[in-house]
Amino acid sequence: MMRLGLPSIRHFVTNCSNKMSATDPTKEKLIFAPNRYQYTKASLHKEDLEGKDPLLLFNDWFQEASKDSAIQSPESTTLSSARLPSGRVSSRLVLLKELDHRGFIIFTNLETSKKAQDWETNPYASLSFWWESLQRQVRIEGIVEHLTREETEEYFQTRPRVSRIGAWASPQSTVIQDRKELEERVQSYKEKFGEDESVLVPAPKFWGGIRIVPLEIEFWQGGQYRLHDRFSFRRENLDSDYQLVRLSP
Ligand SMILES: Cc1cc2nc3c(=O)[nH]c(=O)nc-3n(C[C@H](O)[C@H](O)[C@H](O)COP(=O)(O)O)c2cc1C
Repeated sequence: MMRLGLPSIRHFVTNCSNKMSATDPTKEKLIFAPNRYQYTKASLHKEDLEGKDPLLLFNDWFQEASKDSAIQSPESTTLSSARLPSGRVSSRLVLLKELDHRGFIIFTNLETSKKAQDWETNPYASLSFWWESLQRQVRIEGIVEHLTREETEEYFQTRPRVSRIGAWASPQSTVIQDRKELEERVQSYKEKFGEDESVLVPAPKFWGGIRIVPLEIEFWQGGQYRLHDRFSFRRENLDSDYQLVRLSP
C-alpha cells in the first residue's frame, strides 16, 4: 500500500479542493492549514508560580519581552469589549501605557470609539498579549475603571504636541468624508492652541485612560505538539484572593 507523508497529503488535499473549487468557486479555500512551527522554548511549573503576585509576574514577562530584540512592540495588545444587549464583540490593537498594582492602563477616546460605547453598556474587557519569539501569550480579563483627570493629564503631557492636538481633532471611529476633513480639523486645533510649545494643550474631556482591573490573568507558554503550559490566576471578585490553576491546552 502506498503511504503518504505530510507534504503529499497536503498536495493531495489541495488538489482535491482545487478541483472542487474549479466547479464551485464558493468552495475555494483562500488559506488552508498554513505551516506552523513547534513551540519548544520553555515550560512552566506550578511551584515556580505559586504565591506570586500575577501583576508582578506579568511585569517580569514584559521586561523579558522588552529586552528581546525580536519583539518590536511588547506593549501592543489586543483589547476586546462587548456591547449589551446584543453581545456583539469588537477587538482592536492598543498600547499598554502603564501597569500599576491595580491593573493595566491604556489611553483612548472615551466617547465616540466603539470600545467606549461598549463600556457604556458593559464594563468588562480583555487584553491578549502575544510575544512570538518567547512563545508566550498573556490573557487578561477584568473590569474597566476610569483614571482620574490628573492621571490622564500626567500621561497626556508626555505625548508630542501634534499628537495631543490629534486627540482633539479626531472624534475616533466616527465616519469622515476624506483625509482633508481630518487635516482641516487638525489645522483648526493648531490655530486654537497656537504654536508656542509653552502653552499647554490639555487632554480633551472625551479622551483619557482606563485601567483594566483583572479578575483573571493567564500565562501561556507554548509547548511541543501543542501541549502548552497554561496557568491562570483567577478570583471571584476584585476583593478576593487569586487562585492558581493549571489549564488544559
Ligand atoms: C499597534 C497599534 C496600537 C494602537 N494603539 C492605540 C491606543 O493605544 N489607543 C487607541 O485609542 N487606539 C490605538 N490604536 C488604534 C485602535 O486599534 C483602533 O483603531 C481605535 O482605538 C478605534 O477603535 P474602536 O472604535 O474599536 O474603539 C492602535 C492601533 C495599532 C495598530
